[in-house]
Order: sequence, then structure tokens, then C-alpha cells
Amino acid sequence: MNVVDAVRNRYSVRAYLDKPVDKEMVYKLLDIARFSPSGHNTQPWELFVLMGKTKEHVSKKLIDAVISKVERRYDYDYGYKEVPDFIKERRDACNVKVFKHKNINPKTDKDKLKEHILENFRCFGAPVCILIARDKHLGEEAFIDIGLFAQTLMLVALEFGLATCPQTSIVAYAELLHKELNIPNDKIITMSLTLGYPDENAHINKLRMDRDAVDKFTKFYT
Ligand SMILES: Cc1cc2nc3c(=O)[nH]c(=O)nc-3n(C[C@H](O)[C@H](O)[C@H](O)COP(=O)(O)O)c2cc1C
Repeated sequence: MNVVDAVRNRYSVRAYLDKPVDKEMVYKLLDIARFSPSGHNTQPWELFVLMGKTKEHVSKKLIDAVISKVERRYDYDYGYKEVPDFIKERRDACNVKVFKHKNINPKTDKDKLKEHILENFRCFGAPVCILIARDKHLGEEAFIDIGLFAQTLMLVALEFGLATCPQTSIVAYAELLHKELNIPNDKIITMSLTLGYPDENAHINKLRMDRDAVDKFTKFYT
């Protein structure tokens, strides 16, 4: 697959086939993604790959935490402060589109909404969940490297016939993840990626998000 096709074909996959991904394949994928760029070549990404029984166990713990309303607390300052209108519009449009596609009225369909939220913590049925962390002693710029690494990994996954969904919902339960996986507290668990074979027939996987035109976010100085 060429790079343009990979970028244009990638989307957040939220339903997976019940088909395992073997450790060797994940390893091969990471062996390519590691060539992602980083500031001063610091390569600050630290990965925790959850598969098999461990993934099932952690997933169950996360679901229990959501159901029992454990407070969401990230390892880092997460969320919008004062949201500029143009960002708010995009965020709201994203939510509206997802709910419309799933035929959920978030105000009245409480059970459907709960199911929708829980799907995140089941990793949408993906057999692999990759947590991406970075050391807390690094500057904020390390988040840039994490993002670049994540995108590299997501694009490489396509070459293997695999799909991904980036997530920050799971890392909201940072304390639980540190505890269950024995991840040292000086690691900031930044985000996660689901990984697996996409269920291309699933209705949710027909959803495609819009993008603004170049002129909307670019100013050329000539
Ligand atoms: C940092 C980050 C966190 C995200 N967290 C979630 C999440 O927790 N759950 C989810 O369903 N999608 C999540 N997404 C996926 C976005 O909703 C998605 O990338 C966006 O709507 C654009 O759609 P596309 O990826 O299909 O092109 C996340 C994406 C990013 C980059």
C-alpha cells in the first residue's frame, strides 16, 4: 500500500473480527514503527502491549471501574480549558455524527449510551491493546513524539491487513493501569491503540469523519 492510500484509507476501526493477532506480527509491526521520528532522536515511547488473558483481565477491570463510576484521572493534564468556537464546532460535529450513525439519542437512550461508552473499554473487540507511555521527567514536547509514533504505527498496521483505533478513554483510568500492569508511577500513560483485524461489515465501520479543507487551517506566506 502506498503512503497516500494508507493515509486516506485509515480510519478509527470500532469493530473487530474474533481473530487473534500473534505476538510475532505485533513485534514485526513495532520493528517498523520504531523508525518514527522524535526530537533529538529521544524515542520516548514506552509500550505496554496487552493481549490474551491480560487484555481480557484489564478490560474487565476497566469495565468494572466505569460501571462503579470510579473517577477518571489521567496521568497528565487532559481536556479542554476554554474551547475556541471552531474547535467546539468540530468536536460537537464529531459526537453528533457518531451518535446519529449509531442511532443513539444521548439525552434519552441511556442504556445505548452506556453500551457505547463500554465498547471503548472492550477495545471494540480488538484482541490487542497497546498502551503508549513516556517518562514524566521529559518536557511536554515528548507528547509530540508519542503522537507521531502512534500515527506511524497506525499506518504500518494497514500494510499488515490490521486496523487500529486511537483512544484516550482507557488511559483515563491511569491508576488502575499502573496497578494492574505494574507500570511505574514515573511513566505517563498517554494513549492507547486497539489493534486487530477489522470487521468491515460492521455498521460502525462504515462511519467516516469529515475533514476541513486546507484553506481553513493554512495560511501561506509567499
Ligand atoms: C488522541 C486521540 C484520542 C482518541 N480517543 C478516542 C476514544 O477514546 N474513543 C474513540 O472511539 N475514538 C477515539 N479517537 C478517535 C477519533 O474520534 C477519530 O480519530 C476522529 O474522529 C477522526 O476519525 P478517523 O480516525 O476515523 O479518521 C481518538 C483519536 C485520537 C487522535
